[in-house]
Amino acid sequence: MSSPIQTFLLLGASGDLAGRLLLPALGDLLEAEPGRRDLVLVGAGAEDWDDATWQDRVRSSFTAAKVSPATLDAVLATTRYQQTDVTDAAALSALIASCAAPPALYFALPPAVTVRACTALLDVDLPEGTVLVLEKPFGTDQASAADLNGLLTRLVPEAQVHRVDHFLGRSTVLNLLGLRFANRLFEPVWNNLHVERVDIVFDEQLALENRARYYDSAGALMDMIQSHLLQVLALVAMEPPAAVNETDLRDAEAQVLRACRVRGGDPAAAGRRARYTAGHVDERDIPDYAAEPGVDASRGTETLAELVVEVDNSRWAGVPFRLRSGKALGVKRKEVLITFKPATHVPVGLRGDALPDRLRLVMGPDRITLGLTVNGPDDPMELDHVELDVDLGAGRLPPYGEVLAGVLDGDPLLSVRGDTAEQCWRIVDPVLAAWRAGDVPLDTYPAGSDGPADWA
Ligand code: BG6
Repeated sequence: MSSPIQTFLLLGASGDLAGRLLLPALGDLLEAEPGRRDLVLVGAGAEDWDDATWQDRVRSSFTAAKVSPATLDAVLATTRYQQTDVTDAAALSALIASCAAPPALYFALPPAVTVRACTALLDVDLPEGTVLVLEKPFGTDQASAADLNGLLTRLVPEAQVHRVDHFLGRSTVLNLLGLRFANRLFEPVWNNLHVERVDIVFDEQLALENRARYYDSAGALMDMIQSHLLQVLALVAMEPPAAVNETDLRDAEAQVLRACRVRGGDPAAAGRRARYTAGHVDERDIPDYAAEPGVDASRGTETLAELVVEVDNSRWAGVPFRLRSGKALGVKRKEVLITFKPATHVPVGLRGDALPDRLRLVMGPDRITLGLTVNGPDDPMELDHVELDVDLGAGRLPPYGEVLAGVLDGDPLLSVRGDTAEQCWRIVDPVLAAWRAGDVPLDTYPAGSDGPADWA
């Protein structure tokens, strides 16, 4: 397919996000969809690079993504680099004027620089149809997210703002739409009459990986739960949208998030936090988080966070949604787990335990498992347990590739709407405040463990 967006303007092109994630994802997308190869990629950043240095960067990122020579050559033929102060209106104006309209401006920049760049854009005549793409974190709390939304509204219409959450591009997450709404089986039981609890877990083995500058001022709650896991919750818990389009789907997401509050309305009791100490993950030595270069231990940044959220509506009242994510854990566990209530009555004569049915959606590589109780193979009256297990593979594109496809199509379906971003902060702001006030202890866990011993 060809794209309405003909110019992809990458601000912060010399930075880590661009080289490590965005350029490889763009390569994957252009490889999968050759009709997009006429896209002009323009890199802009603080570094004093010439076109050849920039092309080397594109080449190495595309090669890492195993992109074919045809795709690479098509991009190299037109790509260029312009050294730019992205916070200066005149420089941005010249940069944008040099592009074929309408461009997509991707702010691959630290959040504070993104805000300054957007402020500078107030003095730039943006071509009709310009798309703005912003990375997380979107603001630092509800008030700053609202301010940023106000600023963006002065630049382009909301539908042309893409707030990136790459979890919305994960095939497992997208599959929630097909699984929930294109089957007869699940929707009738997708409520508090039948569901006992929902766990949305993203436990990583990765530790800090030299990201102290960003991570130490964010922590697990902001880095993962405020953004990614609440987006997943929205897709799990939302009402069925009439259509999967940017209006209906995003209305449904926003509506369910508006109904969310932390368990019992008590921010100090609804969450737990912990930080890893030295240990081993998969034979790798992991130093104490507090001793990592760039970490300010006195900040008390958590590397593992858990938050229980309630969805205060008739479908979900009483069902806990436990969101958890952490780093340097012994076992990688990335999944949505729906635990159903026990059968209403197991007939006398069937022996053994009827375990709750459990539907598990595993994120990347995608897998769906359904744990059921059946009659055992030996004694037919003895209950046994089986797991139906389907491997769905890795998805057509990495999550960032799906996100970029939406950007180039000018379709914000898979991006976070402004009101939704504010809702996510509304939910976690009081928890962050309780943690900062020291109302919740910072537990510890050795790297390579499952978390603090008493969290089980
Ligand atoms: C990022 C977080 O947004 O998502 C990281 O900043 C996290 O801390 C990452 O590791 C997880 O997503 P993925 O797709 O890289 O597994």
